[in-house]
Amino acid sequence: MIFSIFLCLILVTVIVLIGYNNFQNHKETIIRQQQEHLLTIAKSISRSFDVFLNYKMNNLSMLSKDEVVLKAFKMNNEGGLYNQHEDVLKSFFEKYREEMDGVALLNKEGTLIYGYPSVDAIQEASIEMSTINNVLNSKQVHISKEYLSKPNQFSIDIIQPVIEKDEVIGLIMNTINLNKIYKVLIDLVQPGEKGYSMVKNREGFIVMHPVINQVGIESIKVRKEKFPQLDWSELEELNRRQVEYGEGYFVYNSKWWQDDEGSLTKKINSYTTFKQGDIAWIISVQMDYKEVEKPIKGALINILLISLLIIFIIVGGFYIFFKVDKKRRELQIETKYLKELNKTWEELIKSESRLRHSQKLQTIGVLTSGIAHEFNNLLSPILGYSEILLGQIEEHHPIYEDLLEINKSSLAAKEIAKQILRFSKEDGSSPEFTYLESSSVIRESIHLIRSILPKRIQIVECINSSQILYGNSVQIQQVLINLYTNAYHAMREKGGTLEIASEDVCISKEDGEKLNLHEGNYIKIQVKDHGVGMDEKTLEKIFEHFFTTKGNEEGTGLGLAVVKSIVQNHKGQIVVKSQVGIGTVVEVYFKAVDKNYMEILKEF
Ligand SMILES: Nc1ncnc2c1ncn2[C@@H]1O[C@H](COP(=O)(O)OP(=O)(O)OP(=O)(O)O)[C@@H](O)[C@H]1O
Ligand SMILES: [Mg+2]
Repeated sequence: MIFSIFLCLILVTVIVLIGYNNFQNHKETIIRQQQEHLLTIAKSISRSFDVFLNYKMNNLSMLSKDEVVLKAFKMNNEGGLYNQHEDVLKSFFEKYREEMDGVALLNKEGTLIYGYPSVDAIQEASIEMSTINNVLNSKQVHISKEYLSKPNQFSIDIIQPVIEKDEVIGLIMNTINLNKIYKVLIDLVQPGEKGYSMVKNREGFIVMHPVINQVGIESIKVRKEKFPQLDWSELEELNRRQVEYGEGYFVYNSKWWQDDEGSLTKKINSYTTFKQGDIAWIISVQMDYKEVEKPIKGALINILLISLLIIFIIVGGFYIFFKVDKKRRELQIETKYLKELNKTWEELIKSESRLRHSQKLQTIGVLTSGIAHEFNNLLSPILGYSEILLGQIEEHHPIYEDLLEINKSSLAAKEIAKQILRFSKEDGSSPEFTYLESSSVIRESIHLIRSILPKRIQIVECINSSQILYGNSVQIQQVLINLYTNAYHAMREKGGTLEIASEDVCISKEDGEKLNLHEGNYIKIQVKDHGVGMDEKTLEKIFEHFFTTKGNEEGTGLGLAVVKSIVQNHKGQIVVKSQVGIGTVVEVYFKAVDKNYMEILKEF
């Protein structure tokens, strides 16, 4: 959780820093573009003035060549009276009344002859004599410097000389109302919500402005008077730049005239200079800085919000992932614990059944020890009499061999009975172990079984082991006889060959791991039959006590259990391989005694 919050904080900080940096760069570019745009507007206003004034001068030039106008001047100069020019001037005025205050005729001394719409209106205009002289001398059209024709209204005069035979016979003066010009040429262009264009002269007076009462005032002076508490230094700097550089742009703090708030706001200002005749105007276009900044700020906020959302999703994803993973691990531990609990339960149930089984075995032990004791008693006369009889007859007597077999079998039976007794009494003493020649023990067991097995079961022996083993000969015989008996039972139906083989083998460490034996020399005894064989399920159970597939009369199911326990007592191993319908191979391994050790033994 803490990691998630930490990660979140780092990501937010990085994104905010990158976002802010990008925002600053982007903002600067946008402001610069906006300034260029405003400058283009200022320049286009300047061009409009140029075109407009040229057009006006052309119109006046044409009027100065009008026959009626020429005649009026001529007659005036000759002292006559002629009034047809009134209609011409009237129609001239009506045609352009949107932009002009009036049109007038002056004689070559500069005295007003006629003015339209009214002489009075014209007379109010202050026509400088120097300007008139200028036109008379140069014989060129002239545009006067702007002058306050009324409060809050500037005008300019275009003075056109009327020439006949290369002589100035009079002047036509067209008075242009700059407030009207502003409406026609400039007011239509409005940059942004608050922005506007304005014209000042180089002395700092406002010549044209969207707010009429601003016209004619000295912009900085009036502002300073009205808001003395505000810092107007940046506006002064703008003015200085406008006069000095003529063209450029500037970001400064000033006040929107229409705003009542007392504080200054940031503005963008682009300016250019327009010159014509006596005119030298600074055209400036300005707009609110915030208006330009606003969409960029909006974009920044959007980017930040989207980034935060992405961070939130990523961190949330991580958080959910870790939570789910934690839950999964908890479940894994829980499942493991439950599995172990289950296993313990199973073990408990198994050990319970083992306990029952061992109790059963104990009871059987008691029973068998009784039986064995009885057998032992019964065997004594058989053994005793067979020995007496053997002593009384010659070796070549026809029943000598049979008697010897009876004697041997009863000896073996006595030994088994003795072992059962020892085993069931649990006195801890183990059967007597001696050094045995493996081949002799095996051969003896074959000899014993041969007399029992029917003739249709063939015995093929291949005894190649020569090593000595340390063990109990009766028990080893018991192992082999059991294996032979099982093999015989498996082949009882269809007959077959019982193959008995033995060899000395050396078990490597690798083979030893597979067979669960220490590496070293072993005697391997193989009992192979071609009987019914066993399926996997039967194979798994053959060493269990009382497991038998034979009827109650035939098998006890103890044979292989005893075999296994004897082999284990001899530190050997037993391996059974079988296939249903093909046969079974049982391999028994007994540890071979070290040869050197045997040599030493022989010397004694
Ligand atoms: N060579 C074999 N071929 C086929 N099945 C065999 C072979 N050896 C053992 N079995 C199977 O293993 C079972 C258990 O053998 P085990 O010798 O322990 O008991 P048993 O032969 O049934 O009875 P007994 O106590 O008389 O020996 C047999 O009932 C038999 O099904
Ligand atoms: Mg058996």
